[in-house]
Parts: sequence; C-alpha cells; structure tokens
Amino acid sequence: GGTREPIDAVRVLANRSSGKQGYAIAAEAAARGAQVTLVSTVDLSVPAGVTVARVDTAAEMQAALEHLAPASDVVVMAAAVADFRPKAPATHKLKKHDGVPEIVLEPTPDILAGLGAGKRPGQVLVGFAAETDDLAANATSKLVNKRVDMIVANDVGAPATGFGYDTNAVTIFLADGDPVAVPLSDKRAIAAAVLDQIVARRARLGNN
Ligand code: PMT
Repeated sequence: GGTREPIDAVRVLANRSSGKQGYAIAAEAAARGAQVTLVSTVDLSVPAGVTVARVDTAAEMQAALEHLAPASDVVVMAAAVADFRPKAPATHKLKKHDGVPEIVLEPTPDILAGLGAGKRPGQVLVGFAAETDDLAANATSKLVNKRVDMIVANDVGAPATGFGYDTNAVTIFLADGDPVAVPLSDKRAIAAAVLDQIVARRARLGNN
C-alpha cells in the first residue's frame, strides 16, 4: 500500500495505493510454497500462511525491510512509497484559526535503491514503477539506477490500471532479457506473471 507521512497529530500525506497488488503478490507467492512476510500499510484480509509486518511511514517501511531483506531470497516492492514527507510534523493538531500552514517537505529514503546497493549474490530484487508518461524510459532508468533484477511498470493513467482497481496491466522490464507485456488482467494474474519471471530469473542465477 501507500505510506502515510504525518503532517500533524491527526493529518497525513498519503497516496491512492490500496495494497491490492502487493497482497496479490503475497498470496500468489505463498500459494506457490514460499515463506512470505508482507510489509503492509493497509488492513486487507491477510492471505493464508502469510506473516504481516504493519508499518505506516517510509521510515518504518525502510526499518522493516532492512531487518527482513538480508535473509530473503526475493524482495518485491509493490508499495507506493512517498517520495517526500513533511520535514517537521507538528506533534499537536494544527488549528484552523492559526491560518493556513506552510508545510516544508523533505525527501524520504529510497528504500529500493538501498536494497539494490546491498543486494547479495543470488538475491532477486523486484521494483514496481507507477508511470503516466514515458513508461519504458522511466522503467529502464529505475531498473539501472536502483540496481534491481526487474521493474514491473504500470501505466497508471490507462483505464482500469494501477491504483485502487482490481485489475492491472504491466510490462516487466528485465535486467537480462526483453520486456514482457502482461495485458489487462486481475491483480492475482499479474502477480502470477511476476512470480513466473522471478522463478525464471532465480533459475538463471543458479537457484531453484
Ligand atoms: O496498491 P494498488 O492500489 O493495488 O496499486 C498498485 C500500484 C499501482 C501502487 C503498484 O502496482 C505500483 O506501481 N507500485 C509502485 C508505486 C511507486 O511508488 O512507484 P515509483 O515509480 O514511485 O517507485 C519505484 C520503485 O521504488 C517502487 O518499487 C517503490 O516501491 C520504490 N520506492 C519509491 C520511493 C521510495 N522512497 N522508496 C522506494 O523504495
């Protein structure tokens, strides 16, 4: 799901990610026999056999991933992590009678890039890219810059695709192969296509 960055004691900076795509990947991986930990910002029904680590902010998600990733064979980052957060969130509720607040933002840590920099041999790292323009160019640059094995790119401006829908359409950009297009399908079928690519990548790296 999306991270939620505090503005004050009651308000957050959020995004439209529902968590459906991430939960579908967790469900599909568990159904295939993987031991799965789902790092989640939302409260959807937890797939059978999946452990959940509940987080809210990008910083909490980063801490959870830094703890879990080193022992994981595969890490999939379907989360919509905020790129910016309020620099100095108020600890109390900002009052309307005090006027419109000026909220200064600062960058959040790039969790996936950090995992890419620390990736161990044989580990498979998968990122997503939510794009509205230049999908192929942006996805390819994320593939290289974040040092991941694949980027699953969705055109979130296309009909029934991306944030909140039960369906998605993606192109999977691979570090070692041609892109694979997956047409509009339910998010579980997208998850299956991503898992097929992960299994194939692991085999090419000498794992089974
Ligand atoms: O949750 P749903 O409603 O089902 O919608 C699914 C989805 C559209 C959110 C999902 O399919 C998706 O595209 N997730 C990634 C959204 C995103 O944040 O994309 P990005 O292009 O901004 O980020 C690229 C990658 O870097 C992502 O893997 C992201 O998790 C990661 N990232 C981004 C910023 C940051 N500070 N740290 C990160 O790790």
